[in-house]
Amino acid sequence: MKKGFEVTPWEVKGDVDYSKLIKEFGVRPLQHLPSVFTDNVLFRRGIVFAHRDFAQIADAVEKKKKFVMMTGLMPTGKFHIGHMILCQQFIFYQKLGAKLYIAVADLEAYNAREQSLEESRRIAVEEYIKNYIALGLKPENCEIYFQSERSKEGEKADAYYRLQNLLARHATFNEFKAVYGEISPGKMVSALLQGADMLHPQLPEFEGEIPVLVPVGIDQDPHIRLARGMARRLKGFKFNPLSSTYHKFIPGLKGGKMSASDSTSYIALTDSPAEVKMKINKYAFSGGRDTLEEHRRLGGNPDVDVSFQYLWAFFEPDDSKLNKIERAYKKGEMTTGELKKYTIEKINEFLADVQKKRKSVELRKFGF
Ligand code: TRP
Repeated sequence: MKKGFEVTPWEVKGDVDYSKLIKEFGVRPLQHLPSVFTDNVLFRRGIVFAHRDFAQIADAVEKKKKFVMMTGLMPTGKFHIGHMILCQQFIFYQKLGAKLYIAVADLEAYNAREQSLEESRRIAVEEYIKNYIALGLKPENCEIYFQSERSKEGEKADAYYRLQNLLARHATFNEFKAVYGEISPGKMVSALLQGADMLHPQLPEFEGEIPVLVPVGIDQDPHIRLARGMARRLKGFKFNPLSSTYHKFIPGLKGGKMSASDSTSYIALTDSPAEVKMKINKYAFSGGRDTLEEHRRLGGNPDVDVSFQYLWAFFEPDDSKLNKIERAYKKGEMTTGELKKYTIEKINEFLADVQKKRKSVELRKFGF
């Protein structure tokens, strides 16, 4: 039996049972994908695990038809490895030929998190966008915009904010409640604006009717449900139903949630090799046994071991190497110390490369 858990956009608690979530939210498991997807670790290992209406995206990819990938970021705190899951997906879709729309949720941060627009801008550029570019995001076919400043072109800006306002009539209080847990004017406005984020690529002022994929953490599904509902009820517009995919949560160092407000819960992309070593050794929850003798005899548990989870999700894309580590750890042939040492090396190798690339990032090419 799994312990109790709760997943809402404002809180993730307990030991998440993903198959139960699939049923509760009414999303579908992501299965039987063509190899263009499963060549990517995120899909092959089930980190991206569920969807709504993904078939039209798989079809567009297969037939090389145009599609849009639209997602957003909440610019708070440090950019950490948990944030890479989304970034790796949009780089992946960009390579597949998708046009990218990326919203910086600075108005949502203002209204729902009490953060100033200036602070959001600084964090978005210095933490998020710079790291996206270092991780491989290209300026071609990519629009990054702030919610508070959609476009310098009047017709486009009008269309986006008009859509946000027209959507308002087509939602219920309960739908808003599912998004933020409570209703305040600021939170309602934010949920409507996120609806406009997801739907506006299909307006005639932008791409016109087109398949749009929104990859998000599973906690954001109430936003998707709300937007899909509003789009259906809004007359006079042609919207292709939104497609979405959902990824799992990567545990924080101590287990539980990786939180940008607790530096002992995450590895940041700007952490130094010494910091990474210290954090993994000191904080990374271990699935090993209390004594070496016991570990050798009974073996460790990779399923709860945070170092192993990080190798699984990010730092050991080679399946045969990962399987070998898993087997050796389970049998007690590999100790926690050895597993941590390997993980530290892999993370530091990866970060050295990203940090080098960060130095030559050209924000200008992205319009910043
Ligand atoms: N609400 C999202 C978050 O908290 C941010 C966001 C804003 C978003 N607009 C979006 C996500 C559009 C996906 C699509 O992270």
